Order: sequence, then C-alpha cells, then structure tokens
Amino acid sequence: MTDKERELHELAYAEVKKHKETVDADPYRQAFHIMPPVGLVNDPNGFVQWNGTYHMFYQWNPFAPNHSHKFWGHVTSDDLVNWKEQPIAIAPSDWFDKNGCYSGSGIDVDGKLTLMYTGNVKDEDGNRESYQCLAVSEDGVHFEKLGPVVDQLPEGYTAHFRDPKVWKENGRYYFVIGAQTEDLTGRVLLYSSDDMKNWELHGPIAGSNVGTLREFGYMWECPDVFRLDGTDVLVVSPQGLEAEGLRFHNVYQAGYFLGNLDLDKASFEHGEFDELDRGFEFYAPQTTVDESGRRILVGWMGVPDQEEEYQPTVEKGWIHCLTVPRVLTVEDGLLKQRPVAELSKLRGEATHAVVSLQDEMQELVPSKARAQELLLTDLEQAEWEIDVFGAATISYDKATNLLSFERPNGKTGDAERRQVKVDRLSELRVFIDRSSLELFVNDGEYVLTGRIFPGESESGLRVRGESVNEFAVTAWDFE
Ligand code: FRU
Repeated sequence: MTDKERELHELAYAEVKKHKETVDADPYRQAFHIMPPVGLVNDPNGFVQWNGTYHMFYQWNPFAPNHSHKFWGHVTSDDLVNWKEQPIAIAPSDWFDKNGCYSGSGIDVDGKLTLMYTGNVKDEDGNRESYQCLAVSEDGVHFEKLGPVVDQLPEGYTAHFRDPKVWKENGRYYFVIGAQTEDLTGRVLLYSSDDMKNWELHGPIAGSNVGTLREFGYMWECPDVFRLDGTDVLVVSPQGLEAEGLRFHNVYQAGYFLGNLDLDKASFEHGEFDELDRGFEFYAPQTTVDESGRRILVGWMGVPDQEEEYQPTVEKGWIHCLTVPRVLTVEDGLLKQRPVAELSKLRGEATHAVVSLQDEMQELVPSKARAQELLLTDLEQAEWEIDVFGAATISYDKATNLLSFERPNGKTGDAERRQVKVDRLSELRVFIDRSSLELFVNDGEYVLTGRIFPGESESGLRVRGESVNEFAVTAWDFE
C-alpha cells in the first residue's frame, strides 16, 4: 500500500468510527440490503462470484452522505443474502484516479481477482480526464493498483467516458464503456484485448444515432452486455430521456435492449429500450453470471440528482442502499427478473390469510415486522389498496389495469406515484425492508422499487377494496 492509500484508508475508517453509532441507531437502517457503513453508496461495482464467494463492490463516499468522494467499498457473501464487510478495495489515491475511483467491473484473470474501473481526474478548472485502470488481488481482499490501461479518449468523444464492464469470450477479453460524443449524445463503445492490457477500440455498438436508434439521451452510463437464453442483452443507464406516458419518470433511467450482438463487426441490432424497474429509485445496475450459471442483477436503489438531499437518513450520516439480487431470464422475448431463491433463507414462519375486502381499512397480516416478504395472489378481479406502514400505498385499479406505488414526495410531502399497466395481474411478491419496498409483479414481469420512510409509531399493513373480492396473502417475517 502506498502512503497516500494508507492515509485515505485511515481517514475513511476514522469517519466510520465517528458516525457508526448514530448511523446504526437509525431505524431506517435496512435489515437485508447492502448499505454503506456510513456515508453514501451508489453504483454496484465489480460484482462477481470468485472461487465460490460472491464479491460486491460499490461506489462509496465514506466522508459524507453526498457524492464528493468515491472509493470502492467491498462486501462478500456465500449466499447473496448475508454479506460480510471487507476492507476498502480501492481509494482515490493516485494521479489517475484522484477525483474518484469510478464504476467498473470484476473478472478472474489467471486466478487473480481483477478490477477494471474508471479513474476520474479533474483539474482546477473542472476539466475532466478519464483513465481506465486495473487493480488486482490474489486473496480477493487486498488490491494492488496497476494504473491505466486505456489513457486516451477516442476521437470525437468527451471525457464523460466511464464504467468499463469486462468479460471474456472465446479466449479474448472485451469491455463495453459508457460514452458521450462531442455533440452530446450517449453511446456504448466496445473494446477488446488478448491480455487485459493492450486494448483495441472497435467502435460504438449502440447509442444515439447508432444503427436504427435516433437521439436517445446525452450520456449513457454503466453499460453491461451478456448473452442470455439465446438473446444478447445490453443493460445501460441513459441520461436525458423525456417522460413518455407511464415511462421514464425518474431523473435518469436504467433499462435494456434485447438483440443480436456481432463482436467482429461491433454491431448490435436491437429492439426498443425498456426500463428494468418502474419504481422511484433504481439506477446503474450491474450483472454477473455465477457458478451455477445464473445471470444475477443488482441495482443501486437511488438515482443521481433525484432529491437525494431530502432523504431523512442524510441527517443521520448515511444514504442509499443496493437492491436485492434478481435472477434474469429471457422468456418469449421478454426479460424477466425474479428475486434470488436464497432470499427465502430470511423467512420465519409463514402466515396465511384469505382476506375479504371491505371499504374500510383492515389488517392485512397480523405481523408488525418492518422487514418481511408478502406473496399476494387471487388479485386479478379486485380493486384494492394496501397501506404499508402509513408510508406508501400499493393499489390496483381494475378499470384501467394500473398498478400504482404511491408515497409522499421527500421534498414537498405531496403524493407522487409510479404506475405500470398490468393486464392480467396474478401475483405480487413484495419485499419490505425498514426503508424500502420492492414489488415483483407476475413472477418477474415488472419490478417497482422505492425507498419508504415510515413514522416510528406507524405499524402494520392494512388493506381495503371492493367487497365482492377476497384475496390470498402469505407473509413471512424477516426479523
Ligand atoms: C452512475 C455514475 C457512473 C460513475 C459513478 C460515479 O451513477 O455516475 O457513471 O462511474 O456513478 O460515482
């Protein structure tokens, strides 16, 4: 470790020590989501199963619940459910990453856990430079930086050039990276290498004015490319899309294209962009394929610039978390997302109930646990509304087939909502943690994610709806 690295690690740990007690006492600390020990978490990074162990790294600011500094925090797990905190993986200690170890990915290279990330550098006038860098580890805990392996911007692109996602295919390494053209359009570029060190640019595979796509945002962040069930998938977080009907209501979007990638021609023929999550907080997801062959996705439960400063955890010294891991599949041309099966480990005893809906609110399940899972079925014909700890409402309107997730806006207190049209609502799986909701609709067809901040005295889940209906609920306490 260099002196500068040691100094930054010590400063970060001092900050953790200083704020940990206040942070840990916050009732909004999550029971089963990855969170920063103190400070801010944003993108998941370097997600990989390496020698049997799952590694998750994340963009971390140890110094404040804002975006002023970026380290890579690190947690590991044997089961994607119980995560163990590890020492800081990388800190912004060098000339090539001094203004942030920005997002990137992880891969095994000759038995070493290798991270590829963006070194963000800004001069006094705010001019940006971007370096794609490597860091390697033999034990999966301590990382040694190797410095930049790509230090030039491609012709015609700005320094908004970041977030390499690396993979190996047919003996060759590839990465895709988020980019912006000089005329301010977002793109994804493809590079390849036979040794992880010398990289060749192949060109843009997707983006504004690439292939059949017209203007589609001014910057694309955090791309991820993989083949799944015979289809190529590009996951990406474009910035600059306008709201359109029920879609694109967050400040920035995260979604995917399905298509056909030709690595030799660096071309990706694809269909339309669709959002991965219809809720409030979801951005910069990253996937990995694990040793059992599952393609697993984790997202940041946050969105840059989206009223972050109004979240109530800020005054306690921390903000944001990651989502639960989701297994991806492509079925009949649709991308499905299901919570990983391992989450059932968290389940206590099950409570089953069949509720006859009435106009008046009534108890949905007797449990008051702030972390629980619900499975709701027999929903199709009903018109109903569930109140979650007085902090959010989930409802379904059978006349319009709209499923809604509503909560008070953090800044104004006025109701805000996200909706999705579900023509045949058959099942809802809800993961409630102390300050979040994740709704999985129809066995992975849609997901709606958002933070919720229940008052301390609010307790329980209540329901009301059309009296002709009843619906079945199973609930499991998670704590
Ligand atoms: C996405 C992002 C990335 C960048 C990182 C910095 O949220 O802006 O593009 O690498 O966050 O923290």
